[in-house]
Amino acid sequence: NAAIGVAVLGLGNVGSEVVRILREHARELEARVGAPVVLRGIAVRRIEGDRGVPAELLTTDADSLVTRADVDIVVEVIGGIEVPRKLILAALNSGKSVVTANKALLADYTGELAEAAENKRVDLYFEAAVAGAIPVIRPLTQSLAGDRVNKVAGIVNGTTNFILSAMDETGADYADTLAEAGRLGYAEADPTADVEGYDAAAKAAILASIAFHTRVTAADVYREGISKITSADLEAAKSLNCTVKLLSICERVNGTDGSERISARVYPALVPLDHPLASVNGAFNAVVVEAEAAGRLMFYGQGAGGSPTASAVMGDLVMAARNRVHGGRGPRESKYADLKIAPIGEI
Ligand code: HSE
Repeated sequence: NAAIGVAVLGLGNVGSEVVRILREHARELEARVGAPVVLRGIAVRRIEGDRGVPAELLTTDADSLVTRADVDIVVEVIGGIEVPRKLILAALNSGKSVVTANKALLADYTGELAEAAENKRVDLYFEAAVAGAIPVIRPLTQSLAGDRVNKVAGIVNGTTNFILSAMDETGADYADTLAEAGRLGYAEADPTADVEGYDAAAKAAILASIAFHTRVTAADVYREGISKITSADLEAAKSLNCTVKLLSICERVNGTDGSERISARVYPALVPLDHPLASVNGAFNAVVVEAEAAGRLMFYGQGAGGSPTASAVMGDLVMAARNRVHGGRGPRESKYADLKIAPIGEI
């Protein structure tokens, strides 16, 4: 079979690991896909120093790379919104399949991107956008496609879970623990998106959209972060046999008028110590799904970091490559049910 050409946008923690796997496991990937999977180029902001990859693969011209004739699949791991949005649309419009880890972009533009993918009948995959290596998108869009999901709840931000777990364990206060998380490389230089719950809200929007076949954006999600949590709060939780976790909760509810609605919310919650989410500590993530026929399922593992996120990207890449070689397409966005969001005061 003809080779499948891949373009990678971004060479940060995730991009470098994707490139490493593509190059080191080329033969295994070829066997799994049924054709060679060939890295055609890597778009970076600046070409400087030794990036650990052959220099001829690097380019600063991402616009040309995503529409190149020998590229079949574009992997977007640069982050941000406007730049990747334009690149992904250009790629989809030229008939490329796209794999992205970009939760902030997907939370607000899934509809637009899904339509572009639908028009060209190509795949748009985003397993890596929620909970890193943990399979949650594929179970919701494929394994449970014939069931009726009633609730998706979990810990989908590693940074805040690390901070809350450390505060619980050591009794240290929020500011000191955040500084420690920064030193250990968990918290970003600007930790606002994590600690104020924006990252978790974007992930909740994606989960609610696919679980309930509707469209929920980040702005629809009620959001409270952890920056006001004190060591005294954790002490008080302990005395109630609870701990505090930043939960993302998406569920079907009955609105005040009796009609079915969706509630999507992110906030620090008291979790009883005997609940499975209470023992998810450190930078780990976990997602509990409740479905009518399946009952309760739990997904647990590494939700952040270069390698775990690259694992999810590679899974999507293999699926997209197989589909291009053998025909077929991955799950597409459901013709969405227009379920309204229930404001927090109405549930
Ligand atoms: N900042 C995110 C987290 C990275 O801490 O979970 C993964 O999306």
